[in-house]
Amino acid sequence: VSGVLVTEKFKRFLIVSVAAILVAGLGAVAFLWFKEPASRSPGSIAVEVFPERLERGKYLAHHVALCIHCHSDKQGDKIGYPPVLTAIGDGGSSCWDEATGHGSGFRVCPSNITSDAEFGLGGWSDGEIMRAIREGVDRDGKALFPLMPYSAYRSLSDEDAKALLVYLRSLAPIRKEVPARELPLLLGIEVKFQPKPLVAEVPDPPANDPVARGKYLTTIAGCNQCHTPVDDNGKPISAREFSGGQAFSLGGGSRVFASNLTPAKSGLGDRTEAEFVGIFQGFATDVAAKTSVPAGLNTVMPWLSYAFMKTDDLKAIYAYLRTLPPVENVVSGRRMLPPSEVRRAAQPPTSDAASDAVDSGKD
Ligand code: HEC
Ligand code: HEC
Repeated sequence: VSGVLVTEKFKRFLIVSVAAILVAGLGAVAFLWFKEPASRSPGSIAVEVFPERLERGKYLAHHVALCIHCHSDKQGDKIGYPPVLTAIGDGGSSCWDEATGHGSGFRVCPSNITSDAEFGLGGWSDGEIMRAIREGVDRDGKALFPLMPYSAYRSLSDEDAKALLVYLRSLAPIRKEVPARELPLLLGIEVKFQPKPLVAEVPDPPANDPVARGKYLTTIAGCNQCHTPVDDNGKPISAREFSGGQAFSLGGGSRVFASNLTPAKSGLGDRTEAEFVGIFQGFATDVAAKTSVPAGLNTVMPWLSYAFMKTDDLKAIYAYLRTLPPVENVVSGRRMLPPSEVRRAAQPPTSDAASDAVDSGKD
């Protein structure tokens, strides 16, 4: 008899505890679901417009921070997929979704950042736009998905953030609605923890310190996002910063691997400043802009946008990269899988270097 009683009691105990755990769990999920991301008031600043600011903003948006590259349609057959400049900032027509290899229930599209009042930023205040760029929340305080690289833009100086704002305001309004964002439940919760309010003013990097300026420029240009290797979970391996090897799919089984940019022999090696600057500026030509490349031979390195970085800025980037700890990692920048496709697509490889290098892409 007592045995039965104990089991009955135990059953009741179990039911009650399971129910309690469920309620607590649901409560936690509900709490997180309704949690607001960290943000601060956008304030009521009115950013003054003047020509130098507009010009600086345009330069950053097109050639350094690459806002236009992401927020416009791209020319799929040109080197590094440069933006189409007829509908600047309308969000373009490609999203990250199931079709691009993300799971079902995932869709994130670059927003319309033109000055259209209904579909763009026309109705946003200056403070709201600057907050979105650097602190990662939209007008209503909702967390932006970090494909918008706000953790990098967080480093934008107050002056450069204003310059970007002034340039965005100058974009012709385009009435185009981008598809709504969709995120799986847990990811939706995770995203809320990404935005971080700025707590202090952000000064410009010192003009007379190329290394500091170079660090600033590589940060806002997102160089490390591609050139730092990532682990199996896609997290950057900071001890091997800028040492390359991250793989990017070009479709059809072809991949390209980011180069090693550290001063190691397998990185910048003995490449001089002039050579480094020369690689970039070699793409600043009409021929480069018009050259069509087969999909498998293209690259994600946005050469045609960076080609127009100022010489001084490219030199500063070089100066900064030179100060990094050298990390040996042999990566040949332009390699495809499978090797047989390389042979067919490329006009015959000069040696077997292409196929030898294929397997060492990771590191
Ligand atoms: C790598 C691609 C990428 C780059 C580069 C990029 N963005 Fe974005 N941006 C996005 C995506 C994607 C979203 C939408 C995020 C979401 O829906 O959660 C977004 C959202 C925004 C928003 C919020 C708009 C809204 O309606 O909520 C603003 C403002 C913005 N970006 C401005 C910029 C500026 C300015 C730059 C350059 C300094 C820039 N972006 C660079 C991908 C990018
Ligand atoms: C979207 C990803 C991406 C971004 C952002 C990016 N790179 Fe690259 N980069 C690559 C890939 C992939 C390659 C190798 C393929 C190629 O040759 O284009 C490459 C190649 C290079 C090379 C050629 C090295 C060589 O051996 O010839 C240099 C130099 C370089 N990147 C510098 C930079 C700098 C500096 C920045 C930031 C201003 C930057 N990259 C941003 C992806 C990127």
